[in-house]
Amino acid sequence: MTLAPAPAAVRDDPTERLRRLADLSVRRAVEPDTEFAWGTLGTGAVLPDELLSIHGLAVDLTPQQRTQLSREEVAAMLAAGIRFEAMLDAILSLWVAHADDLRDPRFPYLLHEVAEETRHQRAFLRLLDELGATAANPLDHGLAARARRRIARIAQRERAFFCVMLLAGEEIPDHLQELASEHADTAPLLRAINRYHRAEEARHLSFARMLLPDLWARAGHRERFRVRRLAPRIIQGLFESMVHPGVYATVGLPGFRTWRAAHRTSERVAIRHVATRPVLDQLLLVGAFPADRVPRGWRRLCGVDHTGTPVV
Ligand SMILES: [Fe+2]
Ligand SMILES: [Fe+2]
Repeated sequence: MTLAPAPAAVRDDPTERLRRLADLSVRRAVEPDTEFAWGTLGTGAVLPDELLSIHGLAVDLTPQQRTQLSREEVAAMLAAGIRFEAMLDAILSLWVAHADDLRDPRFPYLLHEVAEETRHQRAFLRLLDELGATAANPLDHGLAARARRRIARIAQRERAFFCVMLLAGEEIPDHLQELASEHADTAPLLRAINRYHRAEEARHLSFARMLLPDLWARAGHRERFRVRRLAPRIIQGLFESMVHPGVYATVGLPGFRTWRAAHRTSERVAIRHVATRPVLDQLLLVGAFPADRVPRGWRRLCGVDHTGTPVV
């Protein structure tokens, strides 16, 4: 999602752009507790069948199972969003805590972003309550959990790497929520919350895009290597972990087997490509790799050729 284009004078002056973003955050502030029709989600399906992750897989489910799956899938994505945003809040707050100069013009907007994320998290928590999902996430333990903690430690140290993860963590839900919010069969409360979230995330994406050139210029060799080679694998993991294997087990499907198959359907892969390409575009803009030498990991993640052009 993009914001309306700013006038040229604002576009060319980063301080002015930051002020404009902060001004929008003040003028369009939304308090989710009072904004939404809480208690109206009901007990039916919250997503249409074609937006379920299993769309394209030959699985036989009753209407009741599909209803439950829709609620479990949305709950899993909300939980992933709450945790991702908590990490983002923590790391951005550390930037302020450890700053040499608190007059950094990026900080006022950065703090607006943290405030907005905490409101998103409260809205997501409240929606989780209404969904009444029961799936346990097996990726919260073992190797996957250890890998997540290691990635978080790297993101605290390496700011360009963090910024790329931030872009991915905002672009992916943005595309999934775009699909849901524009579909007439999505539950009205979920549609409203998705629209609200996308509107605020559009500002956060503008901010992250503003941060990246400077952070990339300051990044060392190892950090650049991680962004070029490791980041696409981590982002694929991020995408695939949003609907985790435990979700499928709640409707009697084999958890890991269905999860792996669901993420290999052409429908799901196409969603991944569209959701992640904007991240690659930003890396190309900052010259993270020569325009005709997109690394293989990024090509596979985003479904593009060596020049970054989508492969049909
Ligand atoms: Fe958010
Ligand atoms: Fe955000």
